[in-house]
Amino acid sequence: MAGVPPGKTYTPGLDFSGVTYTCPAKKAQSEADRAHEIIKEKLPLLHQINALLAVTFGDRPTFFVDGRGDEAKILESCDDEPDCRLNIKPEYIIQFYENKLEPRYGLFKDAFFNEASMPAGKIPVAINAFSRLPEPTEDVEQVKRDIEEFGYGLAKNVLSPEQVAIMRKAVVEQAAGERKAGIAQVDGGPDGPNQRLWTLINKGDDFLDLLNHPIIDEFIPWALGEHAIITTYTANIARPGNVPMQLHTDQVAVQPPIRDIAFGMNILFYLEDVTEKNGATRVYPGSHLGQVAPEDIFTVEGSAPAEAPAGTALIVDSRIWHATGPNREEAGERPLILLFFMRSFIRQQENNFLSLRRSDVWPKLSDRHKRMLGFYTTGALGGVDGEVREGLFVEWKDGVGRCGRRMTGVRGEGASVG
Ligand SMILES: [Fe+2]
Repeated sequence: MAGVPPGKTYTPGLDFSGVTYTCPAKKAQSEADRAHEIIKEKLPLLHQINALLAVTFGDRPTFFVDGRGDEAKILESCDDEPDCRLNIKPEYIIQFYENKLEPRYGLFKDAFFNEASMPAGKIPVAINAFSRLPEPTEDVEQVKRDIEEFGYGLAKNVLSPEQVAIMRKAVVEQAAGERKAGIAQVDGGPDGPNQRLWTLINKGDDFLDLLNHPIIDEFIPWALGEHAIITTYTANIARPGNVPMQLHTDQVAVQPPIRDIAFGMNILFYLEDVTEKNGATRVYPGSHLGQVAPEDIFTVEGSAPAEAPAGTALIVDSRIWHATGPNREEAGERPLILLFFMRSFIRQQENNFLSLRRSDVWPKLSDRHKRMLGFYTTGALGGVDGEVREGLFVEWKDGVGRCGRRMTGVRGEGASVG
């Protein structure tokens, strides 16, 4: 694995520590050279930016791409103040060029961990132009049409007011408990006003029961096929004063980018009337199809708030650009539950195989839960010790994993084959 040195060698004769192939310094130089060549090749187009860019490849000297005139030029030095400064790995330029990396993602990829990688300066914002946007509706076929056209839809009254109250209480109490225990996971700025609850499958019977909701059966197989599994099951509470989240798509892990199909679908259960002011999820309508994308992923300018009353489910295609919005209220909070499915061959973000070893939760899981969580073989995936026949549950027995029962019906209990 790249960048991870080998550990101790156990077998005499199998020590590979003296073997090297590519010299890192040589590789870095060759990538920088290649990235320069690519920029040079693209100069006839780069006047379109109508701006002066300062570009730095890691610790190499900064150079300038001057696209202010009719013909763009590369300059080794320039006394003018650049419109934008980019500090980027040359390998990303190569990957953009070879269509192996989503450009917008790559531009900001390292900024999370390395402040110096944050593009700085004036970056224009994309403009959306639609004559209408999805409205909350109980007509699921309309919601599907909205998802196809806009990348998201709003299914109204998925939860009754009583059910909203139950789930809201579950989220709020769990959040308070995690805060009290000093294990709250917060984000949304330096003071961390937003709180996120992870692995809800472990956090109460209410969350197990929500997985029986038929809205899942209505939308997930329609979008992702029969074997989609839960990649994350979380709650997010946006509180006043938060900083809007970085815009992203939920399939950024799919690199090289494959945007022709959705790999995931997220169902967001609204547990509060969600408004632009209290932190509605911000979306770029139509961006799932690729023609619309934010210029700057650190601002929600140009995005639309997905407003809807409590009890609505916002259902989103994983290709759409979106983010938690800013909560500009004086008080209160905006809790919601995010149930995110991905196709069965995508690695899950939450490692349920480890987190579900809790002895009090595992016995409560139905076949439906286990299937949704990935404890089930599909295709040639998910087996134990070579067993990959389609349709087997995997389980723990005497402290080890094994393949066990076979599914006998869509929702029925399995019959033992083990
Ligand atoms: Fe997201």
